[in-house]
Amino acid sequence: MFHQTLQCFPKDFLWGAASAAYQVEGAWDKDGKGMSNWDQFVRIPGKTYKGTTGDIAVDHYHRFQEDVELMAEMGLKAYRFSVAWTRIFPEGRGEINEKGINFYNQLINELIKYGIEPILTLYHWDLPQALQEEYGGWESRRIIEDFTNYSVELFKRFGDRVKYWVSLNEQNIFTSHGYLHATHPPGMKDEKLFYQVNHHANLANARVIKEFRKYVPNGKIGPSFAYSPAYAASSNPVDILAAENAEELNNFWWMDMYAWGKYPKMAWDYLERKGVAPLLEEGDFELLQEGKPDFMGVNYYQSTTFESNPLEDGVGAGKMNTTGKKGTSQDSGIPGLFKTTANPNLKRTNWDWNIDPQGLRIALRRIKSRYDLPILISENGLGEYDQVEQGGVIHDDYRIEYIRSHINAMQEAISDGVDLFGYCVWSFTDLLSWLNGFQKRYGFVYVNQHEEGNHDLRRIKKNSFYWYKDVIESNGGKL
Ligand code: BG6
Repeated sequence: MFHQTLQCFPKDFLWGAASAAYQVEGAWDKDGKGMSNWDQFVRIPGKTYKGTTGDIAVDHYHRFQEDVELMAEMGLKAYRFSVAWTRIFPEGRGEINEKGINFYNQLINELIKYGIEPILTLYHWDLPQALQEEYGGWESRRIIEDFTNYSVELFKRFGDRVKYWVSLNEQNIFTSHGYLHATHPPGMKDEKLFYQVNHHANLANARVIKEFRKYVPNGKIGPSFAYSPAYAASSNPVDILAAENAEELNNFWWMDMYAWGKYPKMAWDYLERKGVAPLLEEGDFELLQEGKPDFMGVNYYQSTTFESNPLEDGVGAGKMNTTGKKGTSQDSGIPGLFKTTANPNLKRTNWDWNIDPQGLRIALRRIKSRYDLPILISENGLGEYDQVEQGGVIHDDYRIEYIRSHINAMQEAISDGVDLFGYCVWSFTDLLSWLNGFQKRYGFVYVNQHEEGNHDLRRIKKNSFYWYKDVIESNGGKL
């Protein structure tokens, strides 16, 4: 315990919810939209759960007015969404597709009409396929120019109304799935390339933040990092060291770069010895120093527990549970550094994700102590099966419990001295989970969409919808 008395949430706290273009919009080839890496990847057999795609998703593209009306009914203060790069520049650069601009203009205006603060994510993983084919997307430095050009266009078009911006969503996840585990596009396993891709993404992130200052001088921008704080499995010093290795390589490697424009020294030396450190060019670190964020965006779902892992025959990458069958995920690690292990103190979801609200408090405090930046929780939520019961009621008490306990942890962290200004629950409506189909549901609003067959996509408010409405109305006073 640090705090003595619980503080209230700040009066203008952003009670929000979040989504991403590919997971909600659908209309994948409508109104001039170009093809993204995900439009292409989901068509490769075996890549997604039961072959699900975002072709229709939850059809937010055509139903955004209905969705925003529901947000307004809930009293939502902020809505985080991402822009599909391919709606704006179908080929990644070149000619602008005004119909794409028009869609986001309408969405933003609709939100503002109801007093909902738009939080715009520039990149939530759907890269123009044209750029992947032309030069390997993030594999080339050319991405810096194209990503900047795209982002500046959005700053110019929407910067008059959008104050909060997220640059890259979960760089650690899209690069590791794309280049270490081959589970996201472009489906590769190449450790050296993984670090090179990350270096380019860091440069692109810094460059875009630097440009942002010119176009949206009163705005706020930061990346969203998928932070899973590392715990040690025991007090055995070898496990403590394993957890420290994991924290440095899995977390500080990115967050130090965002906050300070430099890589953590020991991790850098380790990667250099291994021959996988990225190639640098003159001027890189100057740029990285110049693109500092206003806040750290944190996507928190769970903590991860680590123990030592032998160099010889140690555990490598393990499989994730993407089926919803409890107990099917495998431990994974880096031989010689660390491996994951189950935490006996925590319950798990059907997808084997730990439920750990205290972990959120710990995550927020670690970020505060190390970086001293304001924090936006840009994602947090529970993916579970939901059942529509008689009378169209959805009793998602487990979700209410999950969110309630995490809000409690947030309030404790605020009382400890963390500068937290917003909370975006993942997600507002149900949506497509990249690898888990539609059955892993996160929304306050149920959407009648499934892996197989045609469905009417109707929206049904879950019990959590009414509960969160009260939370917002009471500014977190009534949990
Ligand atoms: C985050 C992403 O990693 O977690 C979201 O930013 C994603 O896009 C969310 O949907 C939940 O993950 P999953 O795999 O359960 O859909």
